Amino acid sequence: MIIALGSDHGGFQLKEEIKGHLTAIGMEFRDFGTLDGASCDYPDIAEAVAKAVASGEYDRGLLFCGTGIGISIAANKVKGIRAACCSDCFSAKYTRLHNDANILCLGGRVVGPGLATEMVDLFLETKFEGGRHEGRIDKIRKIEENEM
Ligand code: RB5
Repeated sequence: MIIALGSDHGGFQLKEEIKGHLTAIGMEFRDFGTLDGASCDYPDIAEAVAKAVASGEYDRGLLFCGTGIGISIAANKVKGIRAACCSDCFSAKYTRLHNDANILCLGGRVVGPGLATEMVDLFLETKFEGGRHEGRIDKIRKIEENEM
């Protein structure tokens, strides 16, 4: 598995913490920035990471901003992306099981590094349940295709 990561300045510190964790567990990743924590616009980072995941080049994405919300809204504009903004472990697990989310968005001003690390682990290790949820994902795809 290879991960695409990115943050604006609001999520920069949490992204650095999670990069340390990914390195410790031997998970391959690429950081799409920001690389210095200077003020930047979260839609630019969201677009780069979301397109990298949607292309299939990366298996999952992790995005960070101050709240996790702005960067998730922007990422969800890219076709094929199901980005979930989470602040608890239950949601981080179930967005994989039920929504087949491919990007987890976290708020650097909302959650601490310990909770964020647990959420990232759950998000990366949990498989999509399929079954009755498959049809619902298909309906999301149809909305994207403008077929509904
Ligand atoms: C930046 O100050 C902040 O607005 C951004 O990180 C994010 O929280 C937006 O949703």
